[in-house]
Amino acid sequence: MRQKRVAGNWKMNGDQAQNAALLHAIAEQAEKTTAALLVCPPFPYLLQAVAALQTTGVEIGAQDCSAYQEGAYTGEVSARMLADLGVQWVLIGHSERRHYHSEDNTLLVEKGRRAVEAGLKPILCVGETLAEREQGLTQQVVAAQIAPFLECFTLQELASFCIAYEPVWAIGTGLTATPEEAQAVHAAIRAQLAEVDASWAEQVGVLYGGSVKADNAASLFSMPDIDGGLIGGASLDAGQFLAIANAAE
Ligand code: PGA
Repeated sequence: MRQKRVAGNWKMNGDQAQNAALLHAIAEQAEKTTAALLVCPPFPYLLQAVAALQTTGVEIGAQDCSAYQEGAYTGEVSARMLADLGVQWVLIGHSERRHYHSEDNTLLVEKGRRAVEAGLKPILCVGETLAEREQGLTQQVVAAQIAPFLECFTLQELASFCIAYEPVWAIGTGLTATPEEAQAVHAAIRAQLAEVDASWAEQVGVLYGGSVKADNAASLFSMPDIDGGLIGGASLDAGQFLAIANAAE
């Protein structure tokens, strides 16, 4: 049985005082949830989160990492630096990175490579735009985002990955895929992974993201191939985030 996982993607929000309150509330309640929890604060606050959550079992993720190992890359943050801080996870290819920063599959495979080398667990984010969904291209687009990773990483390396299916049209919009729509894509993702290795495909966490809230989380998470969520807006509110975590039980 796959463990449910609920990840909070704080995006570019928060400050030290707000984070302290949010982290304190998560730390207090974390023990009561059976879902695995992780939070992904902005880079400057990763250490604050590592310190606040160190005895709680809640893991820490970064929202991005550099495609380069180290050196003259002003403004970049390496996977190795993240691991050095005590970060365990990193988002790779969030749609906001793909769209606002023109990150393509070639670059994302390099980021994934640096993450795996540093011992970080990648959460590979995939998803279609509204136009692509309307043209019936959803599964094709998602498969094309996943395929380069299946080609470039060994099964042993892929074992540390999670996938997050996040339809772009559902992110931050209040629109959500219905549980059935999401399940169909999750099942297709798992079938694609099974072509590499069937038993691995059964173990991989495939999270859903896109306007998950406390009131729609339980129906999404009850679907057989939805193993939890990647939560944006609602992860900034401790009550919502914890209610979503509890919906994953
Ligand atoms: P949202 O964001 O929950 O605010 O839609 C999800 C995400 O971008 O990971």
